[in-house]
Amino acid sequence: MARVLPLLIVAAATLLLTSIKSSTALKMASPGCRETCGNLTIPYPFGIGPGCYYKQGFDVSCEDNRTFMPNSSSRIQVYNISLLGGQIQVSTLIASKCNYTNGESTDGWVSVFTTPFFTLSSKANKLTAVGCNTVAFLGGYNKRRAQTGCVSLCLDKESVDFSGQCSGMGCCQTAIAPNLGSLNITFDKSFNNYVVNEFNPCSYAFVAEQDWFRFEASYLQDKKLTDKYKDGVPSVFDWVAGNQPCDEAVKNISSYACISRNSQCFNSPNVTGYLCSCSDGFEGNPYLADGCQDIDECQHPLQYPCYGICSNTVGGYSCSCAAGTRSKDPKTSVCSPDTASERAKLTKLLIGDMGERPGLELASGAGAPW
Ligand SMILES: *[C@@H]1O[C@H](CO)[C@@H](O)[C@H](O)[C@H]1NC(C)=O
Ligand SMILES: *[C@@H]1O[C@H](CO)[C@@H](O)[C@H](O)[C@H]1NC(C)=O
Ligand SMILES: *[C@@H]1O[C@H](CO)[C@@H](O)[C@H](O)[C@H]1NC(C)=O
Ligand SMILES: *[C@@H]1O[C@H](CO)[C@@H](O)[C@H](O)[C@H]1NC(C)=O
Ligand SMILES: *[C@@H]1O[C@H](CO)[C@@H](O)[C@H](O)[C@H]1NC(C)=O
Ligand SMILES: *[C@@H]1O[C@H](CO)[C@@H](O)[C@H](O)[C@H]1NC(C)=O
Ligand SMILES: *[C@@H]1O[C@H](CO)[C@@H](O)[C@H](O)[C@H]1NC(C)=O
Ligand SMILES: *[C@@H]1O[C@H](CO)[C@@H](O)[C@H](O)[C@H]1NC(C)=O
Repeated sequence: MARVLPLLIVAAATLLLTSIKSSTALKMASPGCRETCGNLTIPYPFGIGPGCYYKQGFDVSCEDNRTFMPNSSSRIQVYNISLLGGQIQVSTLIASKCNYTNGESTDGWVSVFTTPFFTLSSKANKLTAVGCNTVAFLGGYNKRRAQTGCVSLCLDKESVDFSGQCSGMGCCQTAIAPNLGSLNITFDKSFNNYVVNEFNPCSYAFVAEQDWFRFEASYLQDKKLTDKYKDGVPSVFDWVAGNQPCDEAVKNISSYACISRNSQCFNSPNVTGYLCSCSDGFEGNPYLADGCQDIDECQHPLQYPCYGICSNTVGGYSCSCAAGTRSKDPKTSVCSPDTASERAKLTKLLIGDMGERPGLELASGAGAPW
């Protein structure tokens, strides 16, 4: 019943780059390596096969178009990889503890271990427990021992919260500590389902993405929840390229991960460690040599407006008015004809007599469209 999931976390998926889509497909994998597994893009530092990943822990496997973490004793699937956000979405298992009317009982726990560069995301996940005489704990280590837990009590069927809220009557939720690399989900021995087993023989507990779970009273029935989520529930792990801050990481050239030109290092806001990004005006994969490519801003007028003639430059773009027209700033204002008579008219309208309100409106209407 006890299930250990040594997650050597890892994985791959759709990169949530920027909202800016490049017309030319940017290479995300190391040269000569697989770019995708099924629908999932596997961006370096993640990779499939020898020589294709940055270091141990980032070596994912691809089986039947599905991506899995390395060294997971149960099959921990990777659903999504955020390259710039430093997160991956994976499946983790549900712990359960049962006490049936026929006298049978089981006690289960779920344990997760990660490599040093992966930790359970404190911001993205919650510990959730389902049951009516249930106290669930999440114990783990960051640098210290961290323990949290939640209580759900509903000693008869009528006490269950049927509204779908996780309110402590059939379901409870609590926040988890940051930087957890190993954890164990367990139940308090002194609370068990014996007293409620007529309608709720089992207690369940899991760590899942915040806001993902919606409680239903039917989950209190035997195996409803575990049958529905056989492959586990979606959880989020934070990852970093290294556990040191940027100013230390950059000192070791042989291990420093931000190797692309026009890339930069930043300290993760979520965990201890650093990540890489492309500099402003560049997009792609900062972890690959030449992974950061110039953005052709002129192809994306919504993000990079230009009301005149747009021309791309390395790391930026310029915007100018066509001959015979002018604008205070063609990136924000349309270019208007620049004839002497037009100018005189505009001046008259702007400074002209107070009665000419339409003129004022005309002048301000020439501003930016937002
Ligand atoms: C790929 O995406 C499509 C559309 O979202 C989905 O129907 C399909 O099941 C996915 N395939 C895999 C292998 O994930
Ligand atoms: C994997 O995906 C490809 C393309 O979508 C498809 O042709 C192939 O049959 C899939 N393989 C398996 C094992 O599902
Ligand atoms: C992961 O698996 C590899 C190859 O089997 C092994 O060398 C390595 O020690 C394992 N790592 C952990 C943390 O178990
Ligand atoms: C992967 O993440 C992106 C961005 O957050 C999201 O739009 C997409 O739905 C996710 N894909 C899956 C399969 O969860
Ligand atoms: C930090 O956590 C937030 C909330 O889960 C997430 O949106 C973000 O992508 C994470 N990483 C970074 C680098 O901000
Ligand atoms: C998790 O907790 C259970 C119950 O306390 C214990 O028996 C088990 O050894 C723990 N597992 C790990 C991996 O620490
Ligand atoms: C089941 O209930 C009995 C009676 O209260 C108790 O002795 C036993 O420890 C329970 N089993 C579990 C796994 O909680
Ligand atoms: C630099 O990184 C390499 C490779 O990871 C490592 O073997 C070496 O010990 C590091 N050097 C220092 C001074 O930390």
